Amino acid sequence: MSQREQWSSKLGFILAAAGSAIGLGAIWKFPYTAGQNGGGAFFLIFILFTLLLGLPLLLAEFSIGRSAQSNAVDSYKKIAPGTKWHWVGILGMITSFILLSFYSVVGGWIVVYLYKAVTGGMNGLTSEQYGELFGATISNPGLSVFVQFLFILMTILVVAKGVQNGIERASKIMMPALFVLFIILVIRAVTLDGAMEGITFLLQPDFSKVTSQTILEAMGQSFFTLSVGVSVMVTYSSYLPKDQSLPRSAGSIVAMNIFIVLLAGLAVFPAVFSFGLEPGAGPVLLFNVLPTIFNQLPFGMLFFIAFLVLFLFAALTSAFSMLEIIVSVISKGDPALRKKWSWIIGLAIFAFGVPSALSYGVLSDVIIFGKTIFDLADYTVSNVLLPIGALLIALFIPIKMKKTALYEELKRGSGLKKGLFETWYFLIRFIAPILIIAVMLDVLGIL
Ligand code: PFF
Repeated sequence: MSQREQWSSKLGFILAAAGSAIGLGAIWKFPYTAGQNGGGAFFLIFILFTLLLGLPLLLAEFSIGRSAQSNAVDSYKKIAPGTKWHWVGILGMITSFILLSFYSVVGGWIVVYLYKAVTGGMNGLTSEQYGELFGATISNPGLSVFVQFLFILMTILVVAKGVQNGIERASKIMMPALFVLFIILVIRAVTLDGAMEGITFLLQPDFSKVTSQTILEAMGQSFFTLSVGVSVMVTYSSYLPKDQSLPRSAGSIVAMNIFIVLLAGLAVFPAVFSFGLEPGAGPVLLFNVLPTIFNQLPFGMLFFIAFLVLFLFAALTSAFSMLEIIVSVISKGDPALRKKWSWIIGLAIFAFGVPSALSYGVLSDVIIFGKTIFDLADYTVSNVLLPIGALLIALFIPIKMKKTALYEELKRGSGLKKGLFETWYFLIRFIAPILIIAVMLDVLGIL
């Protein structure tokens, strides 16, 4: 077998892992989920879960990937040969498959907006008109499926080319640019009339609104935004040279993510309240609010177009990681197989995702467990599959990996202090499994 590909620079890995993490989760999913769950309390619980569970788990996936230097399934096989632990990786592949099937629907929505903004169809409308325009767009079956296909096609083309060439290059400019535009957007949003109400909604916790469902969704959101529980980060860190600090990489990815989540909240909620929109509007929230805020800026449509390009890029870098984890297992590093399987798996995900794309239009009456097909896929991934994946990874570490070897892995290139290592180990060994199981039992009404 040829030598394994490696990231061409230290920055390359951070950018790709951060690229996987930062995406629709922080920018699209966080605002609508927070909006449905009362705002401030959800935000606070989300931050707590991110620090207590998300960060340690991210580090856990990094340690597994770099120790084993293999893909999401073989990494577990290498560390725990002859056991069933590699099913954690297979579960990750299934999760990723379902995830990309609805993620691509939202990716498609960005593509439509971009097209409409560039062709001048989004100039100077009122917030109601934007809402109507978006509603008409996503209920149009041909269009929704077509743009979903375009999004998947872009993902396939990049993943088929391979890790190094495909993913790494563009992130260096796009990510910082996204941060800058977001800051401009936030400044505009928080200076709108009545913005204060939105800021209070996001930052002032109201615990009377917290239910076990809120807690589960905050936990799911924290895994979702960090791409944790799928073994995507196992796969990515397996390409990483041995001399790079894993804790520092994990820390900076978490910090960037929390920052983007905060910016997204501070852009969306002031505008929602200022324009008299409904914070609990669901997955359409961001798309209804964004054009209205940009409309209030000088050269708003230009900014809007730039934002959509960067947002699309952020969504794509996450989508790459979802397809990558599946393709890297099946192709085992062979470039010809990689190409073939990127197409096969990508098109299969597209086919599986078509009902999600149609669930705002012709299939809107299909309700399963009280949810549309799109919502069901989103809910199952975020609140069932990701927590189960995360739980299994947390169990794998103390059961199958030697503590001393873990310390060596985490210390490499970072000089990690023993005390911090012990804290991490404690969080993974006790806190993570107990919390995840408790939250799930609580929702099922057993606890
Ligand atoms: N973290 C990505 C986002 O927030 O958009 C979503 C994601 C990517 C989740 C890859 C899980 C994953 F394995």
